[in-house]
Amino acid sequence: RPPLRVAVLGCGVVGTEVVRLLTTQADDLAARVGAHLDLVGVAVRDVDVERDPVVDRALLTADGTALVEKADVVVEVMGGIEPARSLLLHAIEHGASVVTANKALLAQHGPTLYAAADEAGVDLYFEAAVAGAIPIVRPVRESLAGDHVRRVLGIVNGTTNYVLDRMTSEGLDLDQAVKEAQALGYAEADPTADVEGYDAAAKAAILASLAFHTRVSLDDVHREGITAVTADDVEWAARTGHVIKLLAIAERGEDADGTAGVLVRVHPALLPQAHPLAGVRGAFNAVFVEAESAGELMFYGRGAGGVPTASAVLGDVVSVARHRVLGGRGPVESSYADLPVLPTAVA
Ligand code: HSE
Repeated sequence: RPPLRVAVLGCGVVGTEVVRLLTTQADDLAARVGAHLDLVGVAVRDVDVERDPVVDRALLTADGTALVEKADVVVEVMGGIEPARSLLLHAIEHGASVVTANKALLAQHGPTLYAAADEAGVDLYFEAAVAGAIPIVRPVRESLAGDHVRRVLGIVNGTTNYVLDRMTSEGLDLDQAVKEAQALGYAEADPTADVEGYDAAAKAAILASLAFHTRVSLDDVHREGITAVTADDVEWAARTGHVIKLLAIAERGEDADGTAGVLVRVHPALLPQAHPLAGVRGAFNAVFVEAESAGELMFYGRGAGGVPTASAVLGDVVSVARHRVLGGRGPVESSYADLPVLPTAVA
């Protein structure tokens, strides 16, 4: 079979690991896909920056638009809204299958991308956009598609889970714990996206859309971060048999008028110490799903980091590449609109 041409957009921590796996696992991947995956280019902002030697300099280009036009599979790991959005739409219009790890893009422009992929008849996969290495998008999107999900509870931000965990186990205050998280490379120099709950809210929007077959965008998510949580709060929680976790919650519910819909929110929550999510320590992530027939399910693992996240990206690459070799397509979300998203008022 002719090789499939793969383009990678972005060469940061995740992109470098994706390139490493595509290069070093080439034979295994070819066997799994049924065709060789030929890395045809890596789009970067600045081709002159020094990089890991695994990235062949001859593959680097600053022209992402031209690159996606010659690819069968486009992997977007650049992050941010633009130029990621335009490049992915361009790739889809040119018939490429797309894999993205970009939660912000999906949370804000998911419906546009889903519709474009559906119209072009190509795959749009995004396992790495929620909870890094943890397989959670496929289970919610595909494995539970015949069930009726009632509620999704997630610890989907490792940085804030680490911070709250250190406050709980060591009695640190928030600032001390955030500084530790920064020193360990979990939190950014500007930790706003994590501690204010924006990162978790984007992931909540994506999970809620899939779990309830509806359109939830970042703006629909009620969001409160962890900046108001004090050492006293954490200690009081422990004394009463609880633990404080930043939870992403999506559930079926009704508004005051009795309209059925979906409620989606991110906020610090008191969990009984016996709840499975209460035992999620450090920078780990976990998602707890309650479904009518399946019952309770929990997915646990590493929610961030270049190597774990690259695992999820490569799994998607294998899936979409197989579809190109064997025919068939992954799930399609373009018709989502079943349930309204209700405004959430949380005291
Ligand atoms: N900053 C995120 C976290 C990782 O701490 O979980 C990527 O989403």
